[in-house]
Amino acid sequence: DFPRIGIDAIALAVPRRFVDLTELAEARGIAPSKYLTGLGTRRMAIAAPDEDPITLGANAARRLFQRSGASPADIGLCVVGTETAVDHAKPAASFLHGLLGLPSACRVFEAKHACFGGTAGLLNAVDWIASGSARGRAALVVCSDVARYALGSAGEPTQGAGAVALLVRERPRLVEIEVGQTGTYARDVYDFWRPLHHKEALVDGHYSVQCYLDALAGAYGDWRRVAGDGDPLARTCYHVPYGKMARKAHRHRLAMDGLTEQAADESFAVEVEPSLDLPSRIGNIYTGSLYLALASLLNAEARALEGQRVGLFSYGSGCCAEFFAGRIGPEAGAVAAALEIDAPLDGCHRASVAEYEALRKGDEAADRRPAPEGAERAAARLDSRVVYLGLDS
Ligand code: CAA
Repeated sequence: DFPRIGIDAIALAVPRRFVDLTELAEARGIAPSKYLTGLGTRRMAIAAPDEDPITLGANAARRLFQRSGASPADIGLCVVGTETAVDHAKPAASFLHGLLGLPSACRVFEAKHACFGGTAGLLNAVDWIASGSARGRAALVVCSDVARYALGSAGEPTQGAGAVALLVRERPRLVEIEVGQTGTYARDVYDFWRPLHHKEALVDGHYSVQCYLDALAGAYGDWRRVAGDGDPLARTCYHVPYGKMARKAHRHRLAMDGLTEQAADESFAVEVEPSLDLPSRIGNIYTGSLYLALASLLNAEARALEGQRVGLFSYGSGCCAEFFAGRIGPEAGAVAAALEIDAPLDGCHRASVAEYEALRKGDEAADRRPAPEGAERAAARLDSRVVYLGLDS
């Protein structure tokens, strides 16, 4: 028997600006209904130069400590899942180790597997605790990305930026993960990739949708074999590159259970839609997208779901996918309310399409600027963190 292990607290960080997708559609000469209804997107967060995966990740983690009452001194493992890291060798987790003041007796590393890196971090953290290696300590898992496709491309309305920080420990207050009971699927495919020195992802869009659905079938089938006998899943959170993908996923999964498309669409409103609010306001944040969906669900319904079982599906192109489940804690409603999960979105403002395009042009030069060294680099990031979320006050 494993101890009870899972997600004790969750916190977000988002850039200051977003683009309204009705405006983007009009600027691109596309019917807004394609983005709003066809893709199920409303807004996408866009990152300024000081809002990179390090500052976003550090902000989410600092907020996690502040709101949860946990201390950096409690952490014995820090994993950052990202596919938009700022260095080919030095892991994002080392920058966070410095910025957050984590203990020196702490394992830190970065996990890269497209959008699956955060789940790789979370499930490794759970296994680290279950194995006894944690010796009472907690793990910090940070998912942080800036999603970029070429301007004017089909992928453009499915961008986003942001970070989700998870505190993983024994006796979790939000979601107890079913340890050792995951369904897994992997296959070598070229659906979405970003060659070295490319700032923007390349994607075979329609093929990527098919790869996602094939991976869901594989992972869910595997999960049903290892864990399917328990209570029904009251809700399911999917990886959300855009809202419509979650609808396609739900239909595909329920078809495996023998349900019709109509029955799947009826259950979608109850079982999936509450998890899509934050993704529709922020966009695709790659590694963090599934956890943004979970954050939405907890923000909307934690109290009503106390004691109930939820499914979680993570997909990372390339590809690897995992389906697993957890149970919402008996005090999760009060804990989620105290975390004020969606508060970081309050200060965000709408940028014009022209402003967004200017920011993206600036991005092109970002990697060619001479990188500030060590402490200077960390200090620059620390300043931006303090300025834009006011967390030091
Ligand atoms: N009003 C309403 N709906 C409309 C419409 C209109 N005027 N015009 C089109 N639509 C509908 C279409 O019927 C279609 O619906 P269905 O999917 O239900 O058939 C939907 O809008 C999209 O239309 P298209 O298929 O023509 O869209 P597209 O070819 O321009 O691009 C995309 C869609 C391929 C998803 C593209 O946005 C893309 O490449 N995105 C990035 C890749 C991605 O997100 N892949 C997801 C799976 S991979 C993954 O999940 C990992 C990850 O995070 C990247």
